[in-house]
Amino acid sequence: MTEKYYVTTPIYYVNDIPHIGHAYTTIAADILARFHRLLGHDVFFLTGTDEHGQKVEEAARKKNRTPNEHADLLVDNFRRLWSKLDITHSAFIRTTDEEHVRTVQGLLQMLWDRGEIEKRGWTGWYCTPDERFWNERDLSQGKCPDCGRPVEQVEEENYFFLMSKYQKRLIEHIETNPEFILPESRRNEVLGFLRTQELGDLCISRPKSRLSWGVTIPFDENFVTYVWFDALLNYFSATRYLSPNRDRTLSGNTAPYYAPDGPFWWPADNHLIGKDILTTHAVYWSTMLMAMGLPLPRNIFAHGWWTVEGQKMSKSLGNVVDPNEMVDRFGIDAFRFFLFREVPFGLDGDFSIHALIGRVNNDLANDFGNLASRVLNMLSRYRDGQVPSSGAEGPREEEIRRVATGLADRMEEDLKVLRFQKAIEDAWELVALCNKYIEDTAPWKLAKDEADRDQLDTVLYTSAEALRFLCMHLNAFLPVSTERLWTQIGQPGRLGEIDLRKEAIWGRLRPGTMTEKGEVLFPRIDASVERKPMEKQDSPTKTPEDSTGANLIEISDFVRVELKTGKVLFAERVPKSKKLLRIEVDTGEKRQVVAGIAEHYEPEALVGKTIVVVANLKPAKLMGIESQGMILAASDPEGNLAVLTTERPMGPGARIR
Ligand code: MSP
Repeated sequence: MTEKYYVTTPIYYVNDIPHIGHAYTTIAADILARFHRLLGHDVFFLTGTDEHGQKVEEAARKKNRTPNEHADLLVDNFRRLWSKLDITHSAFIRTTDEEHVRTVQGLLQMLWDRGEIEKRGWTGWYCTPDERFWNERDLSQGKCPDCGRPVEQVEEENYFFLMSKYQKRLIEHIETNPEFILPESRRNEVLGFLRTQELGDLCISRPKSRLSWGVTIPFDENFVTYVWFDALLNYFSATRYLSPNRDRTLSGNTAPYYAPDGPFWWPADNHLIGKDILTTHAVYWSTMLMAMGLPLPRNIFAHGWWTVEGQKMSKSLGNVVDPNEMVDRFGIDAFRFFLFREVPFGLDGDFSIHALIGRVNNDLANDFGNLASRVLNMLSRYRDGQVPSSGAEGPREEEIRRVATGLADRMEEDLKVLRFQKAIEDAWELVALCNKYIEDTAPWKLAKDEADRDQLDTVLYTSAEALRFLCMHLNAFLPVSTERLWTQIGQPGRLGEIDLRKEAIWGRLRPGTMTEKGEVLFPRIDASVERKPMEKQDSPTKTPEDSTGANLIEISDFVRVELKTGKVLFAERVPKSKKLLRIEVDTGEKRQVVAGIAEHYEPEALVGKTIVVVANLKPAKLMGIESQGMILAASDPEGNLAVLTTERPMGPGARIR
């Protein structure tokens, strides 16, 4: 029977605007899915959206939409991005799918019938933004210990999943399955917590009086299901109605959706998640599965987080990396490659355009791209594009053959434990070896002497065959460019559909195959021309022009500028300067700004005005006085100048957008 491989991403909050974090996990799953498909495995790759809960309900209310309408509109942000990134998921689950809701209800009923759920009165604290309950002792200075925001006291009856009784079993499972939680540091973290703290029971309901947007508890219609309990079940429910080869799981299966009768696709092989949602997966999900009598996933892998140029990524800093923009600027392959070559999966990483360009230029353009164009050019020049038969092989060729034919095994081993970076490095060993081989054998010299014809044939054949191996092994990482190279080296069909084990046999490249030079695989990016929206710039640089010649920026460029209203408290001339005024202004906090408007305004005339201040400008000194921001003014070619004010009275510190 074909081996099955089931990989999942978290289901993303449908409310979120997709960013690099979402793209990271989904691309990781895509690499694994593609690689397993090449290995001939039956692959189920699941992603989707988490659509219930308070955040969606509130956001919808603000927009005067029903939560359903709201989710229907926003879900396309994810769908479009995955299509733009050429993600090959087998299914997209939404927790509002009717089949999912039925599965959740079926499983809840089963757990209730089995006595795994209990109703209890409870008094404690609730963090609304996090949708989490806390006991008095959990609070940190009276606030939510997780996010630091205020909590509200609640007293209510709720349903509890009796999670605590599985504590011992869970510890044993983690201890006896070293690959269950990876990386090891995260495994130790979970074990440490489970060994030292008593596991509580999990509140899995919310009274409808407080939250109505959720799955109704089947045995008490006054309650909806806690959003995490509903969301985690997606990994199982999808196997019942969204999986490939559904026939094998459901045909002739008259049991209800929730019957835990061991469907073909369950358990998952890899649940990929970010480090912040490890507890919900390693503890909640695992114990839920135990209570349902289902096997645990083979692995839960918690990856690290991306910062952006050393800073936490956040909307307020305006440094959120939009994967759409990255693909537009650099292409799918460059973005993917950077994410997985730069940082070992599991550790935190720092994103910058500068680093991305470095990777593209060094690894892709110089190493791999250069190798490909060298080989194709030589074939064209010396053999009219036709692959020759190899002449006699020596130790150099044997080494290349050995490295190339061992690649699939090594990469498979790496990817079993999600060492993406190592897998890329393994392939790069072959890239480097081939580049050196060409340097050492200098085919351009061999081409000069007819007596070296055989040896030139050997070099050309060996390098072309090595390119074929690189295409096959790197396809999961660089799907677009390897597919192109595959055609350039004259291979039929789609590379993504080959059987790697059958094709990765040295010598299958047929002599006589016609190759074509084609376009450069990875053009070098000119770092000095490429604009750097995420990097602080001292002087404004020109942004690229669009096809109409307009000087356009992205909205993300604009929102990086923090504009605020400021009330002028005091103003005076800067001694010895004709142009400068020192202005004290209240922008929510007091600051001083030095502005070159003394020729247009008397200092006193400004006091009391509400002006516009660039609040996040790096402080700079003008005539020895520190300026903490800049005020906005309009000026025309006649030399008139007017400071910007608001059209209606506004208090200090208001955001301007
Ligand atoms: N809906 C839940 C998951 C339920 S799974 C049953 C959720 N959704 S989310 O939209 O917030 O998920 C975000 C994912 O993106 C998480 O895996 C999180 O770790 C990841 N990231 C969010 N910011 C990130 C970075 N800056 N870097 C990398 N990943 C980050 O949680």
